[in-house]
Amino acid sequence: MEQPLIKDGRRVDGRAFDEMRPIRIEVGVLKRADGSCYFELGDNKVIAAVYGPRELHPRHYQDAKRAIIQYRYNMAPFSVDERKRPGPDRRSIEISKVSREALEPVIMTEFYPRTTIDIFVEVLQSDAGTRTAGINAASVALADAGIPMRGLVSAIAVGKVDGEIVLDLNAIEDNYGDADMPVAMIAKTNTITMIQMDGKMTREEIQKGLEIAKNACRKIYQMQREALISKYSEEIE
Ligand code: CDP
Repeated sequence: MEQPLIKDGRRVDGRAFDEMRPIRIEVGVLKRADGSCYFELGDNKVIAAVYGPRELHPRHYQDAKRAIIQYRYNMAPFSVDERKRPGPDRRSIEISKVSREALEPVIMTEFYPRTTIDIFVEVLQSDAGTRTAGINAASVALADAGIPMRGLVSAIAVGKVDGEIVLDLNAIEDNYGDADMPVAMIAKTNTITMIQMDGKMTREEIQKGLEIAKNACRKIYQMQREALISKYSEEIE
């Protein structure tokens, strides 16, 4: 990349190092799902739909003690610059797995033996950060479905760009930067449920990045809560 990614202390899109892109959350956007959420993070647009708990077939997949969680992350062919071939690929299988694991610790699966809770995340538009946007959306959609949870999971990426630790990398920063580290956590208890890293950072840089991510997740958590409260207080009124 010929242009610098950081100039006069600002990033390519004018943000400060610890600044997130704007977030918009809408709860209950799909009629047929038990719970749903539309989530925007800058130019990322994703939708999450939750179905269940419902009886799992075939029966030999059932767990007699708890519900199983299935998570499918999918990118629409039109969500990226170059048309994405429809269907699962290595990347979406990996993202589905880590996202499921990021959410499992908060879901009280023990209340619903022999069932499945299915989470679908559809990426409509992407600009780096879709897995974290998907996890944020799925967390709200689970709550919207009335599934008992120990807390909400919030997620955001931090990384390294032109030697600086920055929050919430956009696609240019992700492509031309030095490292990208998506983090998911239960903000209420400071419990990390997912951490991945693409690139290299020192121990000190990781610690600094985690601190920035933690603060950001707290803000996202507040927005998720407010979105849920405002939907349900409207319904009561
Ligand atoms: O989206 P996320 O940051 O969670 O995952 P990534 O694998 O780091 O991808 C970063 C970005 O690359 C995506 O958000 C898309 O904008 C872009 N991408 C793409 O253009 N085509 C793909 N097949 C996959 C990703």
